[in-house]
Amino acid sequence: MTQRGTAILNLNNGSAPIELPVLSGTMGPDVIDIRKLHAQSGLFTYDPGFLSTASNSSTITFIDGDKGILLYRGYPIEQLALHCDFVDVCYLLLHGELPTPDQKKTFDAAIKNHSMLNEQLVRFYSGFRRDAHPMAVMVGVVGALSAFYHDSLNISDPVHREQSAFRLIAKLPTITAMAYKYNIGQPYVYPQNSLSYAENFLHMMFSVPTEKYEANPVIVRALDRILILHADHEQNASTSTVRLAGSSGANPFACVSAGISCLWGPAHGGANEACLRMLEEIGDVSRIDEFIQRAKNKEDNYRLMGFGHRVYKNMDPRAKLMRETCHEVLNELGLHNDRLFKLALQLEKIALEDDYFISRKLYPNVDFYSGIVQRALGIPTSMFTAIFAMARTIGWVAQWSEMVSDPDHKIGRPRQLYTGTTMRDVPGSYIK
Ligand code: ACO
Repeated sequence: MTQRGTAILNLNNGSAPIELPVLSGTMGPDVIDIRKLHAQSGLFTYDPGFLSTASNSSTITFIDGDKGILLYRGYPIEQLALHCDFVDVCYLLLHGELPTPDQKKTFDAAIKNHSMLNEQLVRFYSGFRRDAHPMAVMVGVVGALSAFYHDSLNISDPVHREQSAFRLIAKLPTITAMAYKYNIGQPYVYPQNSLSYAENFLHMMFSVPTEKYEANPVIVRALDRILILHADHEQNASTSTVRLAGSSGANPFACVSAGISCLWGPAHGGANEACLRMLEEIGDVSRIDEFIQRAKNKEDNYRLMGFGHRVYKNMDPRAKLMRETCHEVLNELGLHNDRLFKLALQLEKIALEDDYFISRKLYPNVDFYSGIVQRALGIPTSMFTAIFAMARTIGWVAQWSEMVSDPDHKIGRPRQLYTGTTMRDVPGSYIK
């Protein structure tokens, strides 16, 4: 980052104006550096929800929400979705460049080397109710990885960090598929290292010991695209959670478990599940207006799931790609007349013509379509967010690693504006 100039803060209280550096990155808005503001003025800034605050610098992902641009390490998401697979994208996010064929081979082999779980960890599943939500199981099992790889891990060592990344990328599909198999009471299917990342996941989800399973290549490609589109999204709530948890030097598996907890919420990754449930609840094109009116009603806190985004004030580029994938998958599977897909297209059209949504720049986000694609792939609704977590793990671990390797990183410690009771004494009746 470079200093472009300064901003002058005049407090109008007789004190001298405060000069604050203005910093530029390579793209995107400049930032006012307020790190020394408290020391200079005794003031803090107030920004709940980080509406105007950059929490860190990063070289990984860039978003221009007004133009609908998403870049991983400089490459547009549209090009990556078309020309690369998820393993290329993992390498790119972790190392900064796309791999050469040899680098990819070595990387792929290194990941596959870690795809199995310690059998002790497999026993964790039986501690959960069969009907536990897969995200609850994921929080527990991924957090439990820290018990297996804590003593041998030195997070200051780049080789150890890379090994943690390999373990997380490799084990998440196994953990996710096992959560599903446990839920439906089928035997666990162990990873097959001869298969691609996406194919292996489908194999662990859908094969049974009694039959041969071969995944449809269109379905494999669709899943791979879901993984690429969800791989990273700069400082979103779950990534910021991973960074904050990691800022204390915590174990990366525990940090990723914290990220999964955050992702689960319906305002974040839980929106794909909530969106599909919403489409099912609407049920028919004739009821769209009723739900749009509810979303617009200030007295009702109902929201159209899959609409709106903190950063995108234009079409989410991932939603465009996901809509394309939707068409491809539904055509391939002979589901082009799918009721929910038609309903989704109609809902999108009506909302995009409505003043309420236009004036607030509320466009469909990636979750609006990813649920329909996943449903067509045979993935049950309750697993949608778990698959998002599996995809986002590479983003979380790349961001965690970037933070830990930065010699200037500090423990995250926000301040507050206290609005509680001022100092007072405990009442006499309590005094012994
Ligand atoms: N339906 C109806 N109204 C909405 C919606 C929605 N989905 N989203 C925002 N609004 C309205 C708000 O009521 C508010 O209106 P007001 O200005 O009249 O008060 C205005 O739009 C701005 O909304 P905020 O909540 O201030 O926007 P914020 O940036 O904080 O929230 C969020 C973004 C959480 C994504 C929000 O749009 C939302 O809840 N969407 C539905 C859930 C969803 O799809 N989440 C997925 C996010 S993408 C992801 O995680 C992969």
